[in-house]
Amino acid sequence: MSDAETLISRRQFCTGACSATLLSLFAACGSSPSSPSSGGGSNVTTLSTSTGKFTNNSVQVAVSGSALATVGGAVVVDSVAGVFLLARTSDSAFSAIEAVCTHEGCTVNGSDGAIYVCPCHGSRYDRDGHVVGGPAQASLRQYKSSFAGDTVTIAL
Ligand code: FES
Repeated sequence: MSDAETLISRRQFCTGACSATLLSLFAACGSSPSSPSSGGGSNVTTLSTSTGKFTNNSVQVAVSGSALATVGGAVVVDSVAGVFLLARTSDSAFSAIEAVCTHEGCTVNGSDGAIYVCPCHGSRYDRDGHVVGGPAQASLRQYKSSFAGDTVTIAL
C-alpha cells in the first residue's frame, strides 16, 4: 500500500468515524427523557401567555383582551411569583393551577379541549390540575382565585 493510499484510507476512516459519532450523539439527544418532544397529540394547541402582576402575596391577571374573556378560555400566566395555568370555568369563576409539570418540571403550556398537556412527554391534566394521563403521577397544585372588575386574583 502506497503512502497516498494510506492517507486516503485514514481520511475515509476519520470521516466514517466522525459521522458515526455524530449520529449516535444526535440519537442519544433525541431519546433523552428531558428533551422536549411533540408529546400530547395532534389536537394540542399552545396557550397564549398573559403577564401576571405580583402584589400582596397574590398574582393579578387582566381578563379583557385575552382568552380568559370567554368561558372555557385558558392562558399561561407568567409572573415573578411563578408560572400558572388560568382557565375561565364560568362567567364568574376561574381555575388557577401551577404550570410546572410534576413529571420532570417542564412548563405545561398546551391545551386539548379542556385538558392541559405538557409539551415534553405528553402528561395531561384537567382544569383542576388532576392527572388524567401520564407519565406524571402527581397533580398540579391548585390555588384559590377571585374575580372582580376585569382582574383575576390568584391567591398564593
Ligand atoms: S415533564 Fe414529562 S410530561 Fe411534563
